[in-house]
Amino acid sequence: MSALVLVFYGALALWGVLLAVALRTSRYRWFLWFGVAMMLVLNIGYFARGQAESIAFFISIYDVLINVGLTGEELPAAVGTCPDNACTVWGDTYETHSAWATAFHERFANGPGSRNGLLYGHIGFNSVAFLLAHVQLARPGTGGGEKAARHRLIGRVSFAAVTIGTFCAVLLSAQHTTVTEYGGVWSMLGFFSMSFVVYGAAVKTVTTARSGDIASHRVWMFRYLGAMWGAFWLFRVMLFVLDPLLRNVEAAAILICIWFSAPLGVLISEWFRTRKQTIDIDLTNASESQPQVAQA
Ligand code: HEM
Repeated sequence: MSALVLVFYGALALWGVLLAVALRTSRYRWFLWFGVAMMLVLNIGYFARGQAESIAFFISIYDVLINVGLTGEELPAAVGTCPDNACTVWGDTYETHSAWATAFHERFANGPGSRNGLLYGHIGFNSVAFLLAHVQLARPGTGGGEKAARHRLIGRVSFAAVTIGTFCAVLLSAQHTTVTEYGGVWSMLGFFSMSFVVYGAAVKTVTTARSGDIASHRVWMFRYLGAMWGAFWLFRVMLFVLDPLLRNVEAAAILICIWFSAPLGVLISEWFRTRKQTIDIDLTNASESQPQVAQA
């Protein structure tokens, strides 16, 4: 299993190359779709291998950096251990982990079944919503007819999915008040604010479409996509960097990610939308694809 972590690092490096190419050429489709594919591989793992094992794999991605320079004698405030070292796939190689990670594994490996159900609901529905948001942006419903009908149908499914997925997340975060490794009540409030940013953008995307304001619909769709990328990928990448840097301050790294990832995602997408103007993510035909980003 630890070899799979190395494969994942390889995939991250390739993704970095795709980002560099995208920034040079202003063509983001391979970078974005690669991110969608990696998200699917990671999240489908929860349904294929179960939560305890998938969480251990997820934690193992972070184990390498958090352990750099640790002697094991006195643990920093944001580092801990887990029973039988079951929260990692590295075996004896790493016996200390980020404190949020040990709490995360404990919550779902030894928690009530209802909590596992909520996590399945959250991951399943939000992954579907994440995927469909890209399908919608790549296949806008312009031109009427069958294309528009399909766009409307996928939009409804996507909105239902993000509604259920976010609702599950809110219920999960409501349990965080006693999880000091996440930051307790600040974690709960932070995840509530993340839900507000993501779901608020989703609602605006729907209301602008329903009122026939297609220019605003595209603008909000782009913000929604930015919020989703923030909540999922930016969160995890920020945590990867901040975790070792802030390991002496309890819950600091995870709280920064919880509070800032989604708004930062929106800001980045706004920057692209207003500066770059055309973000082409259509996988089907590069030369015929339409500019996907409307002006404010
Ligand atoms: C509305 C924005 C989001 C909120 C508020 C949110 C909140 C949460 C919470 C509270 C947890 C569980 C932590 C715990 O209770 O111990 C979690 C875990 C998780 N969430 Fe989300 N999340 C959001 C967006 C997303 C999206 C868009 C996806 C999928 C594309 C996603 C996928 C996951 C996964 C896979 C986990 C398990 C940890 C991991 O393997 O990465 N989340 N999220």
